[in-house]
Amino acid sequence: MAGPCDLNFDIAVLPGDGVGPDVTNEARRVLDEVGVRFGHRFTYKAGLIGGIAIDKTGSALPQQTIDTCRGCDAVLLGAVGGPKWDDPDAATRPEDGLLALRRQLGLFCNLRPVKMLRVLQDATSLKPEVVRDVDLMVVRELTGGLYFGRPKKRWSNSRGRRAVDSMVYTEKEIARILRAGFELAMSRRRKLTSVDKANVLETSRLWRQIAVEMAAGYPQVSLDHMLVDACAMRLIRDPAYFDVIVTENMFGDILTDEASMLAGSMGMLPSASLAGIPGGKSSRAFGLYEPIHGSAPDIAGLDLANPIAAILSAGMLLHYSLGLGREATAVERAVLQVLEGGYRTKDIMTGGMKPAGTAQMGRLIAGKIRK
Ligand code: IPM
Ligand code: MG
Repeated sequence: MAGPCDLNFDIAVLPGDGVGPDVTNEARRVLDEVGVRFGHRFTYKAGLIGGIAIDKTGSALPQQTIDTCRGCDAVLLGAVGGPKWDDPDAATRPEDGLLALRRQLGLFCNLRPVKMLRVLQDATSLKPEVVRDVDLMVVRELTGGLYFGRPKKRWSNSRGRRAVDSMVYTEKEIARILRAGFELAMSRRRKLTSVDKANVLETSRLWRQIAVEMAAGYPQVSLDHMLVDACAMRLIRDPAYFDVIVTENMFGDILTDEASMLAGSMGMLPSASLAGIPGGKSSRAFGLYEPIHGSAPDIAGLDLANPIAAILSAGMLLHYSLGLGREATAVERAVLQVLEGGYRTKDIMTGGMKPAGTAQMGRLIAGKIRK
């Protein structure tokens, strides 16, 4: 692991499945250019995860990949999954690899920023005036809740087949993710919306209680509570209302796919999954960075995927895990400049714009860093 003044950083790169390799290649290209311009050296350590790992090793998360990640300063991931591994009776699935990695590395704090870039205002399916001022951050709890709670199983008995998943949260798990929400709100517009289903779920009632208690320590933050169904509606009706949303794992999964549409395309949205609270005691947290778009197997290898989400994820990596704020800003600015120059991948194409493939988009963005 690098110390605070090091210029050399080790980054684990797990391309995974589908378009994962296409987009992580471009993120690396941009990181390399950041290295040249700012005088850092990034050393990449490759690892297997997901379907490709199942094919090659029988496991969606080989031990070697975990060890590689632990030995690095941060992890850059592409995507996992695809129809080839979708059999509901399969012993293991690509997604198991990602879930196990999140859990084993303690990556409880998932940040998903959604920002409407004015240049993309025509690419969204919503009215431009609705999405114009969207700049929100979803803080999703990532290692608890329905995803990991026990019991979790499928079985059959004389009365037929049954299955159970359990939503379980401890006070400690709720408190640390809420703290991340409050801290982020402090560094932004100081408005925190805690999303739950407290009219139905006990976990949500505990969540709400802890949120209220914690709010006493953050008098500058205005906290409100919203039921998850109402939040889903408000995200479409009036998304500019939100600053920071903090919520449990499954709600966050669903709401962030919805919220991604506010930014025009899922191909635009990065994410960070951190093992610590951002802006907490140490300004740097170990983390895994991935686009939120998934593996899109239908366009894998065709030079069609939008690499911007992966490139912006690399930007978040620079900021949150390496403490390189200037470098992170340079990445964001380069993306914006290329979009302002009229280049678009297919997912964000609108009339009069210039089509660009995955690799060209990556090269254009890298080129803007160089200048
Ligand atoms: C996400 C994805 C994952 C999740 C899948 C691939 C397991 O949808 O990161 O949002 O549900 O967390
Ligand atoms: Mg999801």
